[in-house]
Amino acid sequence: MSDKNIIIFDTTLRDGEQSPGASMNTNEKIQIAQQLEKLRVNVIEAGFAAASPGDFDAISQIAQAVNSSTICSLARAVDNDIKSAGEAIAKANLKRIHTFIATSPIHMEYKLKMTPDEVIKRAVRAVEYAKTFVDDVEFSLEDAGRSEISFMKEITDAVINAGAKTINLPDTVGYRLPNEISSMVEQMYKFINNRAIISLHNHNDLGLAVANSMAGIVAGARQVECTINGLGERAGNAALEEIVMILKTRKDLFDGFDTSIDTKEIYTASKMVSTITGIEPQPNKAIVGKNAFAHESGIHQDGVLKCQETYEIIKPEDIGIQNNDSIVLGKHSGRAAFKDKLAQIGFSDISVDQLNASFERFKILCDKKKDITNDDIRMIITDEKINDNKTYEILSVQISDCSGGVPSAVVTIKHKDQEFTDASIGDGAMDAIFKTIDRITGYNGTLNDYNVKAVSEGKDALAKVTCKVTFNDDNPPMIGHGLSLDTMIASARAYIGALNSYLLMKDLLNKNNSHQI
Ligand code: KIV
Ligand code: ZN
Repeated sequence: MSDKNIIIFDTTLRDGEQSPGASMNTNEKIQIAQQLEKLRVNVIEAGFAAASPGDFDAISQIAQAVNSSTICSLARAVDNDIKSAGEAIAKANLKRIHTFIATSPIHMEYKLKMTPDEVIKRAVRAVEYAKTFVDDVEFSLEDAGRSEISFMKEITDAVINAGAKTINLPDTVGYRLPNEISSMVEQMYKFINNRAIISLHNHNDLGLAVANSMAGIVAGARQVECTINGLGERAGNAALEEIVMILKTRKDLFDGFDTSIDTKEIYTASKMVSTITGIEPQPNKAIVGKNAFAHESGIHQDGVLKCQETYEIIKPEDIGIQNNDSIVLGKHSGRAAFKDKLAQIGFSDISVDQLNASFERFKILCDKKKDITNDDIRMIITDEKINDNKTYEILSVQISDCSGGVPSAVVTIKHKDQEFTDASIGDGAMDAIFKTIDRITGYNGTLNDYNVKAVSEGKDALAKVTCKVTFNDDNPPMIGHGLSLDTMIASARAYIGALNSYLLMKDLLNKNNSHQI
C-alpha cells in the first residue's frame, strides 16, 4: 500500500442512519453492507452495537455476510459499549472497535461533567479494554474541531501508548474551514509522527465537509470517514462519492493519492441507499444527483455531442451509469435477458427465488407500463431483497369508497401457506387497508410516518411507499417499504413489511431473552 493510499471508512450504516428518518432494518443494512464491499470500501462502520438489540444483531449479521472489508462497531468509552461492540463483530474476518470520548472544553464541562484528566483516564481504559477483543482499535476525539491542540496531543499520546492504531479527529459540529482543518492535521501529523493513522470525520453544517476532508488529506490524514449520498446526522457527513471522484478527477493536484474504490459501483450504491432510506439526494447533488450529468442548455448539449469533455469532467460510465440507462427490456424479454440486465446494473448476486419473484413482477409491470427503466428494475430487485422476510405477504387489495360512501377495504394475506381474507371500514381507504391487515394478523399498528414517491417519470410510474409503524405500542417503530404501480397496494406492502420486521425483532429478543422493545 502506498503511503498516499486513502483508507475509505464508510459510516452510512452508523452516522448515516442517525439522519432523521433514515433508520434501516437488519436485512436492509446487510444489502447495503454487501454493496459497500463491492464498492471496495476499506472499513464499514456497521452500527453502534450497544444502541439496541437490533443494532447488535445487524452488526453481527453483517460481520458474517461481508468478507473483504473491515467491520467496525462504534462504542462509547465505557466497558459495556465496548463489550457489545467486541461481541457483535466477533465473527468478522477483519474487525475494528471504534471508541470515542469528547475532548472539547464545552463537551467535557457540560456534557460529560468530567475533568480533562478523567477524560484521559477513561480514554486509555477504553482503548486497553477494546484491545482485549481486537487488535485494530480506532480512537476518536469527539468535537476535535473545537478542542485545544495541547489537550488533543496529550490524550492522543496516551491512547496511542494504550494501543490505538487510528486517531480520528472529528469536526463533529461542522464548524471548521479548510485552512483550519489543514493546520490542525499538520500539527497532529508532526506530533503523531507515524505512530498511528490520522483520520477525519467532517460534518456538513456549513457545507464544507468534503472540502475539509480534502484539505486534511493534503495535510497528512490517511483515512476519511464518509457516507453514501452524504447522509448523516443533521446536515450530514462528507459524501464518499465526492471525495473519491475528486481524488480520481484531480490527479494533477492529488498526485499519487488513491483509494481502493471501484467507482463503477457508486451509482448502484447511491440508488440502493436512497431506495432503502427513502432519502433522495437533491437533484443538483454532485456526482449522484439526478441532474449531475443532464445538459439542459442547447449550447451545452451541442458541445457534449461534439466532444464529451467540453462540459463533462466525469464520464457517467465512471460511476456506473449505463449509456442506455433510459429504456430497457420489454414484455418479450426472457428470464436470461432479465438476469443479464440485473448483472449489468450491479445485481449479479441474487438467489434463484429472488430472480424468479422479481422476473414475475417485471412481467406484470411490462403489461401495465410503457417504458421500463433501469431505475424501475433496480427498485423491483431491491424491494424483493429487502422484503425477503415474508412471514405475512399481501396477495390482493380491493378498496371501495369514496364519493360520499364509507371507505372500505378487502385484503387477502398469505401466512404459513394459507390465505386469509377480511374486510374493514376506515377513515379513508388507507386506514381501511391498515385496519383490515390488523384484523387478519391480530397485531395493532399505529402509523407514525408515511411517505410516497414516484420511482420514475410519467403517469404510469411505480409508487414507492415507506412507512414507520409501531405495533402493539412497542417501541421502536418499524420501517416498511412497498412498491407497486398502485399506491394502495404499495402502502399495504409497506405496512406488512414493517410488521414482518417487528416479528423478526420480537423473535430475536425472545431468543436473547434479555431485552425488551
Ligand atoms: O461526529 C462525530 O463526532 C462522531 C463520532 C462518534 C466519530 O460521529
Ligand atoms: Zn459524526
